[in-house]
Amino acid sequence: MTGSKLRVVQWTTGIVGKAAVRAMAEHPLLDVVGGFAYSAEKVGQDVGTLCGIGPLGVVATSDVDALIGLKPDCVLYNPLFPDIDVMERILAAGINIVSTSFIISGRAFGEVDRGRLDDAARRGGVSLYGSGVNPGFANVFALISTGVCRNVQRVSVLESVDCTHYASAESWEQCGLGLPIDHPDISSMAEKLTSVFQDAVEMMARALAVDIDEIRYDVEFAEATEKVELGFMTIEKGCATGLRHCWSGLVGGRPVIELPIIWKLGYTMTPDWPLENGYVIEIDGTPSVRSRIEMIHPEGWDAPDFGTVTAMPAVHAIPAVCDAPPGIVLAHELPLIVAAHVTG
Ligand SMILES: NC(=O)c1ccc[n+]([C@@H]2O[C@H](COP(=O)([O-])OP(=O)(O)OC[C@H]3O[C@@H](n4cnc5c(N)ncnc54)[C@H](OP(=O)(O)O)[C@@H]3O)[C@@H](O)[C@H]2O)c1
Repeated sequence: MTGSKLRVVQWTTGIVGKAAVRAMAEHPLLDVVGGFAYSAEKVGQDVGTLCGIGPLGVVATSDVDALIGLKPDCVLYNPLFPDIDVMERILAAGINIVSTSFIISGRAFGEVDRGRLDDAARRGGVSLYGSGVNPGFANVFALISTGVCRNVQRVSVLESVDCTHYASAESWEQCGLGLPIDHPDISSMAEKLTSVFQDAVEMMARALAVDIDEIRYDVEFAEATEKVELGFMTIEKGCATGLRHCWSGLVGGRPVIELPIIWKLGYTMTPDWPLENGYVIEIDGTPSVRSRIEMIHPEGWDAPDFGTVTAMPAVHAIPAVCDAPPGIVLAHELPLIVAAHVTG
């Protein structure tokens, strides 16, 4: 990396994007030089203003070519759903991408699209990296925890959180929440929306040099016992308002990597699974290791500020990704990502 600031284009200003811009505006190594707006009403507005801070002098646009024409070092890619064609264009133009949007290893995109993105990055001489809090940070925390073990039989990363305040209605709807509990598509919708967790299983398996035979998904839903009004979404009585699911990597039929998740919207459901209000990392091995991570929301909710904790593992990775070899890069192939230059 050179001594000058890295020039970053922010792709959308939703929950994660807003937190990313707030952090980058204060970051001594990063400079927000452009912003993509998905919503027509955001086009022409200042990116800083859209993110609840003062104007940055950077106007949001929906013009992809204009943003590529800025020749930024990196795009911080946080749309609700990724656009493979657009990502391919950005990478082929020689612009690194750090994304929180449905990618860790690219496996869930399918081999064709993963290959397209990897090829585009190699052609452009740049890298594509996916992160977030989970998948992302929590998986890396678990991998680091195995470092004290002589042998490992199982690694589990549990996310168990109250999502009542996470106002991303489309994400929850695409996950099947809000549908009648017996809807025929509900399980396949949850599997599709959370398929990026299979990327995390793959990434962890590669880091641990273990050959996974199979990646499996299991899910069950909690049913609203009364109407749930969330402000951003309403869930009727009898509809899904929580889910408990798990992506597992199996060796010889035995789960070696397990990524269980409990997400609950509202407080009236059955079953009413108890929450850990955070992340529980368990390594079964010699020795076994157990860690509990709580991220305390500044407003005192029993849940993290998901925007910030999702954005920061991506923001902090930008300098390392800009220095990484071309292609899709995985967390264990980068230097340790920490809150460099913002501590003190
Ligand atoms: N790995 C993790 O830990 C983790 C955790 C949370 C979220 N995520 C992922 O991070 C990404 C951003 O999450 P978020 O909570 O910030 O989402 P969000 O606020 O619901 O949406 C982000 C932005 O996406 C744009 N958008 C809206 N509808 C869209 C559509 N149909 N297709 C494409 N873009 C659309 C909008 O951009 P404008 O603002 O320009 O209108 C919106 O503000 C998502 O892909 C989410 O799955 C990852």
